[in-house]
Amino acid sequence: MRVIAVANQKGGVGKTTVTMQLGAALSRRHRVLVVDVDRQQSTVWWSENIRDRLPFDFAGNQNPKVLTRMRELHAEYDFLLVDTPGSLEDTPVLETVLDAADYAIVSLTPEALAVEPTMRTIARLIEPRQMRHAVLLNRIDPRIPAQLKAWRDLLDTTWGIPRLDAYLRQYKTQADAPVLGHLVTTVRDNRHTAGAIADITRVGLEVSEQVALTGIGRW
Ligand SMILES: Nc1ncnc2c1ncn2[C@@H]1O[C@H](COP(=O)(O)OP(=O)(O)OP(=O)(O)O)[C@@H](O)[C@H]1O
Ligand SMILES: [Mg+2]
Repeated sequence: MRVIAVANQKGGVGKTTVTMQLGAALSRRHRVLVVDVDRQQSTVWWSENIRDRLPFDFAGNQNPKVLTRMRELHAEYDFLLVDTPGSLEDTPVLETVLDAADYAIVSLTPEALAVEPTMRTIARLIEPRQMRHAVLLNRIDPRIPAQLKAWRDLLDTTWGIPRLDAYLRQYKTQADAPVLGHLVTTVRDNRHTAGAIADITRVGLEVSEQVALTGIGRW
């Protein structure tokens, strides 16, 4: 089993969206458990709206301290994905999750105000743990072609932070998904949904490749 934390101390950058949609994408080929340790419990509400079409197992409202034990108890899963809180006062929760994780995905939206908290999360909480991690660019505007290149350049050259090649564009399908109880695996593939489905499918493939390369002995 591999434990993947979806983290960023900046709120609203897509942690919950990435956790749920990546959980769905990975569940096409792998056994997935999604765990929520965020007091906001956004995944719980989303999961309730999905009801019996949830393609992965789900454990909401978890104390982060149970993660290490979950790894031992639930070796049957290939991936355990953890949605984490995006607030500074919940830093201890995030730290406990990162201690138990093999890999961190740092969701980042292309906004100036997201930069400092994201860098701080990586520098203070992730790098000291010497764990594999990558930024996932989220809410890239499909109508602004230069945006993706500009943010990739910032990450690669200016900041020197590892990132996934795959990224998520901004789509109404994504914004509507929690309230409609949708996931990329439950919506019909049509011209409204194809972009979002393709994006997360690429992220799933890249993450499973990356994570397969991390550490040995706990798989
Ligand atoms: N790729 C996307 N396209 C469109 N909307 C998106 C996308 N990603 C996220 N959103 C929307 O942005 C908002 C914030 O996303 P989300 O709740 O996933 O962020 P978060 O990091 O979990 O927030 P918090 O820190 O509060 O837990 C939500 O309304 C979500 O639907
Ligand atoms: Mg959230």
